[in-house]
Formats: sequence, structure tokens, C-alpha cells
Amino acid sequence: MGDYRQAYERSMRDPIGFWRDAAEAIDWVRAPERILDDSAAPIYRWYPDAELNTCFNALDRHVEAGRGEQPALIHDSPVTGVLRSYTYRELRDEVAVFAGALRNLGVERGDRVVIYMAMVPEAVVAMLACARIGAVHSVVFGGFGAKELAARIDDARPTVIVASSCGIEPARVVPYQPMLDAALDLAAHRPSRRIILQRPQHPFALGASDVDWADAVRDQAPVDCVPVAATDPLYLLYTSGTTGRPKGVVRDNGGHAVALRYSMKAVFAAGPGDVFWAASDVGWVVGHSYIVYAPLLTGATTVLYEGKPVGTPDASAFWRVVAQHGVTVMFTAPTAIRAIKKEDPEGTLLGGYDLSTLKCLFLAGERLDPETYAWAGARLGVPVIDNWWQTETGWPIAAGPRGLEELPTRAGSPSFPVPGYRVRVVDGSGEDVPAGADGAIVIGLPLPPGCLPTLWGDDERYVASYLSAFPGNYLTGDGGRFDADGYLYVMGRTDDVINVAGHRLSTGAMEEVLASHPAVAECAVFGVHDDLKGQVPRGLVVLKAGATVDPADLVALVREQIGAVAALRRVDVVAGLPKTRSGKILRGTMRGIADGRDQPVPSTIEDPAVLDALTPVLRGDRV
Ligand code: COA
Ligand code: AMP
Repeated sequence: MGDYRQAYERSMRDPIGFWRDAAEAIDWVRAPERILDDSAAPIYRWYPDAELNTCFNALDRHVEAGRGEQPALIHDSPVTGVLRSYTYRELRDEVAVFAGALRNLGVERGDRVVIYMAMVPEAVVAMLACARIGAVHSVVFGGFGAKELAARIDDARPTVIVASSCGIEPARVVPYQPMLDAALDLAAHRPSRRIILQRPQHPFALGASDVDWADAVRDQAPVDCVPVAATDPLYLLYTSGTTGRPKGVVRDNGGHAVALRYSMKAVFAAGPGDVFWAASDVGWVVGHSYIVYAPLLTGATTVLYEGKPVGTPDASAFWRVVAQHGVTVMFTAPTAIRAIKKEDPEGTLLGGYDLSTLKCLFLAGERLDPETYAWAGARLGVPVIDNWWQTETGWPIAAGPRGLEELPTRAGSPSFPVPGYRVRVVDGSGEDVPAGADGAIVIGLPLPPGCLPTLWGDDERYVASYLSAFPGNYLTGDGGRFDADGYLYVMGRTDDVINVAGHRLSTGAMEEVLASHPAVAECAVFGVHDDLKGQVPRGLVVLKAGATVDPADLVALVREQIGAVAALRRVDVVAGLPKTRSGKILRGTMRGIADGRDQPVPSTIEDPAVLDALTPVLRGDRV
């Protein structure tokens, strides 16, 4: 039996022993004696009697072990011309001071702090400072607009908001103040203070309750790490669900630290001293796990890149970063590779760089199409590892487990379930389907450490959303199949979640915004296939009798409320939408009609031309 199979089978047969051993990689204040609390099943808690501090494990521990002078974080920002490296000692010191500043402003253990920042080192400092004092951070992606931000503020109820004055997109500076002010106008909750990092590209007009980051840290004494329960929340990360109300995924401290440390070794084959670059954003789960926590928990160097794969300055941006910093393991979304391939189809620009340090490229966040997989492998000459997971799990569910065994990969498949995850493909009655047959992908409970223990303040919604469809199993929301050799193929969401350029979005949230327009009677938003972004949303609206609207206004409304990242570019006015007798819009049926498929209907329409053909029919045109 190979090393992977052995590890996997042990994790299934003896999860307690498996995760007891893995916990030895973490420095505990109080080491776990109990490994799993299943007394409130289906809600489980890992390491219920243990105590630790995640920030200590990410920073102080390495300084104490002699890694103080090793770079912990390299901030590479071609959009601002900044390049700066922080050693573990420097990062620890900055974090300890900012933790003191947060405490000075009234942030206590268990309080929430919303972080709305661009890809600047201070975002990482703020996250780790929360961890240091036992506060709970909730980072909101900078591309989200006022409505999304307000929903998160109202659910997390932060004591303090930490924001940067702006973000920077290649073609424009994005001032954050209008979005933050509008969000606070919409929200019922009021944080007591806002800490603002002033960036030179755009100032923030400070109000009476605002504090300049520079003032907050001036003369501030560093503070120590506070021990917290392993089961205490480390962070909340809101993610899109079926409705417009985002889900507050909770991440605990203990299980998270153990799982991420394990994943670096078993999946990413990365260890202390590696230069790990996840080209994502701290606002997404990939950023939380693989820009911030996993590389630092491991004693690696992480690269924080502020820019795009193309246009900053050209499609060689990523190769320059790899060569300049000696990146050994790289992680990004397939969309980024597709964007590079579009600009530089032959990969000519790669030739200008020494990429010999690179051992492996990991891709996740959306389905990895075989063409992109083949292109990246051929151009880079390193293994390309597809890995499938979600905000909810926090680390890969399925992947080629490089650190355990170098197993052959297959195009279109994130290979095998990672140890700890009992992955099953089931039919509507919850029975496993045979190899080769499609079904719903579920994970047998308990989920391994690191996965969400619940939704913030809402056990009921957690159980209803994820654990009720197939009792004893977690519903991933993805459909797919195993092949005869045990390779998993993830075909896409079976709900109203879409992935646009690796960004997870809710069509339901966009529908809520469209429906709020006074001219709109009803509407539906679908994901349609896009060669570059994988999927893009498209809207259909039915107007109220006698009303008129310029579809461009509807597009602008979604951009303002949800954010530019929604990338809704087209809305068509139609005469009617097919409905059930009780008046429910048949979105699934429409996707099915448009796609010519049977159930389970994926959340995407593969061929936009089909929707083009369907739109005039729905509009009532004579065709
Ligand atoms: N702040 C403000 N605006 C943002 C933003 C942010 N953090 N991120 C994206 N946007 C804006 C973009 O500027 C764009 O605005 P526009 O409509 O004015 O052009 C809009 O949101 C849509 O963004 P996106 O879908 O990303 O398209 P793009 O054309 O700007 O970039 C790619 C396309 C492929 C280069 C880009 O999506 C990319 O690098 N993707 C990699 C995926 C990734 O990192 N995923 C994270 C999970 S692993
Ligand atoms: P997020 O929560 O933003 O990480 O998005 C999770 C969703 O992205 C999953 O439910 C999948 O639909 C999709 N996804 C992520 N990685 C992959 C992958 N490797 N293959 C197919 N789909 C993926």
C-alpha cells in the first residue's frame, strides 16, 4: 500500500489517533488530551480541552527557534512600485504593537474586528494582531461594495473596523471611504472606532471616531499573546450562499492550526524556509489559509502580491515574481493562468526568467479545465496540482497529496480525497453511486479539523444548509463523480453559487439587488460559461406593467451594491420567466432548458449562445 493510501486509511479508521499525532506539530499552552467532542453531534469540536495562541505559532515561535532573521513576508506591489520584506522578528514586533493599539481602542478577547483592506502588509498585521489578543477578525474582500459590507458588519457586529484608504486596480485607484461610509449608513450596527491606514494614492477624510493607523501605533507598547481555547473562533469569513445573506463561516484556533500545518506538509510538500506564493487576495479563503496562516505556521516565507497576472506591467508579472523571490511553491486560480495564456499563448515571456526554484504549481478556486492544466504543465515543466475545496473547509478536500506521495495527476481531476475527508458521491437518496456516475459530493461527518464548526451565531442555519440534506454528511454543494481508479471529478455547483474569475458569488444576492429596482417585477440571474473567467453572471428581468428601464442602470446598481467584482455586464428585459404553479421561478428548469440536460442541473449555462437563443423566446419575440 502506498504512503498516501496508508495515511488516508488511517485517517478514516482512527481519526482520533491521526489528529492526535498531527497536533504535535503545534505549540500548545495546554496540549489536547481530548481530541474530539462529539457530544453535540452533528456539531463537532476538535481539541475541546486545549489552549494555544495562533499568532504565537505563526510568529513568536519561529523567532524563539532562531528564525527571527528569515523573511516572513515579502510585499511585492508592482501597482505602487513598493517592494518590502519583513523578517519574522519585524513582523512579530509590528503585530505586537498593533495588537496593543487594538486593545487600547477597547478590543477585548472574543470581540470582532472587520478588516477591509487592500493587499498591504498591514492587512496581515491586523489579522495576526487580532489572533494575538484573542479577538476575531472578519476580512471583507476589497472588491465588495456597500451592501455586501453592510451585511457582514451587521452579522459580525465588530467593535472596530480597520480599513485602508484605498485599493489599487491596474487601471484605477479605488477609494474605500465611499463604500465604507455607505455600508455604515445601511448597517444597523455601529462600530465604536475605525482605524484607517492612509495610503499615499488616496486620502481618507477622518471623522471624529476615526483613528489614523500611524497615530494608533505611535508610542504603543507591544503586547503578548493571550492563550485562547482551541475551540475559540480565530476568524469569521463570509461567503456567498443561495440567498443574498452571506454565511459567516467560523474558523476555530486549534483545529485550524493543526489542519493547515498538516496540509502544508501532506498536500503542498512545503516546509520551513520554502518561499510560498499564493497569488490570491487576503479577502478570500485562499488568502487567509495560504497567504497568511499556513506559510507562517510552517516557518516559510510568504509573498503578498498586489497586482494582477497581466497588465502589471504585462503577462510576465507572475514569472518575474517567481524568479525574483525564488518562489518554490506557487498557488493561484486557473483564471489567472488563462489570463496569462490569452496574452502570451506560446509562453514566450517565461523564457526571460530563471524559474528553476519552482517545484510545483497548485491551482484551485474553480474547475481546472484540461487545456489550462496542459498549458501550465508544458510551459512551466513542473507538476500542476488541481486541488478542490471551499471557504467552509479552509484547506483542500481533494488534491494530489504531493507531500505524501507523488501520484500521477489526471486532467480535469483534483485527484484524491485528502486524509481526513470521507468524500462520497451520492444519489438523491444518499446512496453511493457507482464509479463513473454523477451525483452530489458529500463528506461524511465529522469533518476533519480546520473545517467550519458552525456558522457565526447560527447553529440552526449551519445544520439546515449543510447537514440536513443527507444526515451524517456535509453537503458540499458541488456535483461530480469518481472514476474507476478513484480519481474525483468536480463538475460544478448544483446550487445558486457561481465562480467568476475564481471569485465566489451568489446569483441570489444579485437577484435581490435587481429586484430592489422600482421598475423590476421579477428577475433571474444565471452563471454562463466564459472562456476567461470560467463563469460570468447574466440577468433576465421582467418589468412592472408600464415601467421602463435602461438595462445599463441595472448593471450599475449591482456594481454599486455588490461590487465591481460581481462582473454582471448584461441584463436583458424579458416578458416572463417560467414558474411553478405556486409562483416560484424555475431557475433549475431554465438552466436545464438552456443547457439541454437532465438533473442535477449545474449552476452554469455552458453555452452562452443557448441563452442568447432563449432570451428572445422569453421576451415573447416572434422567432
Ligand atoms: N478591489 C476593487 N475592485 C476590484 C477588486 C478589488 N480587490 N478585484 C477586482 N475588482 C474589480 C476589477 O477591477 C474589475 O473592475 P472593472 O469592471 O472596472 O474592470 C471587476 O472588479 C471585475 O474583476 P475581475 O473579474 O477580477 O476581472 P479583471 O478583468 O479585473 O481581472 C483576472 C481578470 C483574470 C486578471 C483576475 O480576475 C485574476 O487575476 N483572477 C485570479 C483569480 C484569483 O485571484 N482568485 C482568488 C481566489 S483563488
Ligand atoms: P470558495 O468558497 O470561494 O473557495 O469556492 C468554493 C467553490 O469553488 C467550490 O464549491 C467549487 O464549486 C469551486 N472550486 C474550488 N476549487 C475547485 C476545483 N479545484 N475544481 C472544481 N471546482 C472548484
